[in-house]
Amino acid sequence: MPKIKFPDDFLWGTSTAAHQVEGNNKKNQWWKWEQETDLEESGIACDHYSRYEDDIKLMADIGYNAYRFSIEWSRIEPREGEFDEEEIKHYKNIVNQSRENGIEPIPMLWHWTNPLWFMKKGGWKKKRNIDYFADFVRKISEEFEFDYWLTIDEPMVYANRSCASENYPPTYIAEDGWPKKEKTLTPIFKVASNLLQAHAKSYEIIREKSSGEVGMSKAVNVLEPASDSSLDEWSTNIRDYLENDAWLQLLKKGKPIAPYYGEEFGNVLDFFGINYFFGEECYFDEKSGTPPYHFFQTRPKENCEKSYLGWCIYPEGLYKVLKRIENTLEIPIMITSNGIATETDLQRRRFMIDHLKQMQKSMDDGVELTGYLHWSFMDNFEWARGFEPRFGLVEIDYENLSRIPRKSAYMFGEIARKNGINGAIEEKYL
Ligand code: BGC
Repeated sequence: MPKIKFPDDFLWGTSTAAHQVEGNNKKNQWWKWEQETDLEESGIACDHYSRYEDDIKLMADIGYNAYRFSIEWSRIEPREGEFDEEEIKHYKNIVNQSRENGIEPIPMLWHWTNPLWFMKKGGWKKKRNIDYFADFVRKISEEFEFDYWLTIDEPMVYANRSCASENYPPTYIAEDGWPKKEKTLTPIFKVASNLLQAHAKSYEIIREKSSGEVGMSKAVNVLEPASDSSLDEWSTNIRDYLENDAWLQLLKKGKPIAPYYGEEFGNVLDFFGINYFFGEECYFDEKSGTPPYHFFQTRPKENCEKSYLGWCIYPEGLYKVLKRIENTLEIPIMITSNGIATETDLQRRRFMIDHLKQMQKSMDDGVELTGYLHWSFMDNFEWARGFEPRFGLVEIDYENLSRIPRKSAYMFGEIARKNGINGAIEEKYL
């Protein structure tokens, strides 16, 4: 295999999210939801909150040069307008520990969790609540400086799940507790529009103080019709428009386009953060599925290798979406999440190499890629699926929380140090 080289300052790192790894995140809606449903509880998770020093040291020892982590809003601002200086210090320690170890810290400012006080004010359903998030972002931008910032993680995934999926907490808490899921399209677009506006506002706030580059992370998947029936094609087009095309267009135009709404915002992206995991196919089914999507259902693409969660492994899809983003937005792209839940590490290693090859192909065809952040550094709390899916390069033994790097962790370290893949790496690890 020919040697594949990446740009000199390429970022090779891993991603985590506060609630999924830190443990004891008691002041957000997920914690409350876990206590009040039958779902597995996040508890102490990976105890990254107290073990971050060793974890970051391990990243550096293995060879990575970047770390995407999230700053938990409910820790920083546990009560409206009251910022917890100790918690700010905690995240400063993470940043310092990263830099001292030659690791570029890349913060995500919002990764699906909201402080309880924000939930009680109507959460992301209320447009005026964007200002609360803006206050938090302002505080963070006064306290921290980064070369790369991420604002919002996967707005559509959050909007869909919080408004329509039974296993996920709603986006607000009513006076009499958790509201019923409405399962119509309107709240989904409302929540997504508010998150979009929150990103735009955050961009402005951060850029006032920081010379760093600001992006958000968006899941962009390839959607293909399940059959050549025109109803399946119609379903694909409509879902693709809502989840992908409308977003790319509105980010290009600098203003919301229907069904998303709100103020015009101009350019609010210095780079595009893409989260890419799988290939999907779309089909029409008016009877089954979760409303409101019963007219345009998705399922894992058929005829492909599946992950532990049944997701279709589709590396070629990464090339397709990278080209699509490049063609529309013409800005640098960072892969902010890409990974697989699997019980066989060999599958993870093949997954990674196959995706890196598609990234190279896209760079050969003009895509400007700045980094690859693997999901995830370690096994963690996969939301409603609990701790069972294993996404980590590093295994967590949940009996004693010890960290056991898998072969894939070392393979990725070699790739990072060599700034690319070569035949020897493939021979050694595949
Ligand atoms: C989400 C994570 C999630 C992962 C795997 C990511 O893109 O941001 O929170 O654990 O997908 O489902």
